[in-house]
Amino acid sequence: MLAAKTFFETPSERLTPRMEEDFFTSLMTRNRTYKTTFHDRFSDINPYLQEYLLHHAPPTLRVLDVGISSGISTVELYDDLSRGGREVEVVGTDILIDAFLVKVFPRCYALVDPGGFPLRFDFPFVTMKPWVTRRDYYNGLFILRKFINTLFTHQVHRMLRNPDDARISEVKLVTPRALAKSGITVCTDDISRYNSEFEARFDFVRAANVLNSGYFSPTVLSAMVANIGCYLTEPEGSLLVVRTHEDRASHGTLFRRGNGRHFEAVHRFGSGSEVEDIVLRVEIPTK
Ligand SMILES: C[S@@+](CC[C@H](N)C(=O)[O-])C[C@H]1O[C@@H](n2cnc3c(N)ncnc32)[C@H](O)[C@@H]1O
Repeated sequence: MLAAKTFFETPSERLTPRMEEDFFTSLMTRNRTYKTTFHDRFSDINPYLQEYLLHHAPPTLRVLDVGISSGISTVELYDDLSRGGREVEVVGTDILIDAFLVKVFPRCYALVDPGGFPLRFDFPFVTMKPWVTRRDYYNGLFILRKFINTLFTHQVHRMLRNPDDARISEVKLVTPRALAKSGITVCTDDISRYNSEFEARFDFVRAANVLNSGYFSPTVLSAMVANIGCYLTEPEGSLLVVRTHEDRASHGTLFRRGNGRHFEAVHRFGSGSEVEDIVLRVEIPTK
């Protein structure tokens, strides 16, 4: 595993895809979702989207990508959709974009979210996930991990009371390649909370590996889909809900907003989205 400090100190031109995958995939956020991501995740789906959106969206395409994690697949979506010179504007959102890298002790660092929730602990020669794993209970490591978690987290909370502390650095949990693209804007947003700034603003929304039945209850998923429905233009606005399985095959459904208050399925990739029935049942509110 790559140490957080090493990741943020590596110049962007020297960050390899492997380093990005390794780093982001090992981060778990406060709501127990993972920042798992890898390159070329949707290379089978993007060509279909490019063709579909060529015929079912305005020439200047406005895209919202929710739950972007590192933004690696956002950059690929942007590159694929803008192939052939099309003008594309992508807003990429995630519940966790900004974080702090805090020097808690000499040569020891904690990567934490803005509320101090720990994401990673770095020691001089080793880096560690803060949460206890099942294996820890067999080899006894859970005692050590809990001790370090308590010690580091306590120290971080104390230090965060003084934001001017020179041992605190602000970092973004997004690939520098996404931040460097002028057509991509990245911001913090919680899909479960309605964002009026997004209302009727997008021709296409992608929810990749975030609207998962294992992550959220059907009630929360319905609220998220209803919010996204309001962010789409009528009648052509479309939504892709997709999930990548362990064998790296992606299964998803492309939905159309239409003029009514319900989504309709337009196309299935693989065996379709696991939450397709929830999406189809959602009534999109009129705002
Ligand atoms: C597995 S990653 C998906 C990354 C990317 N979309 C892909 O498929 O490669 C899931 C992301 O969803 C984000 N997430 C979880 N809950 C969220 C919420 N309520 N609102 C916005 N983002 C959320 C997590 O922080 C995480 O970065």
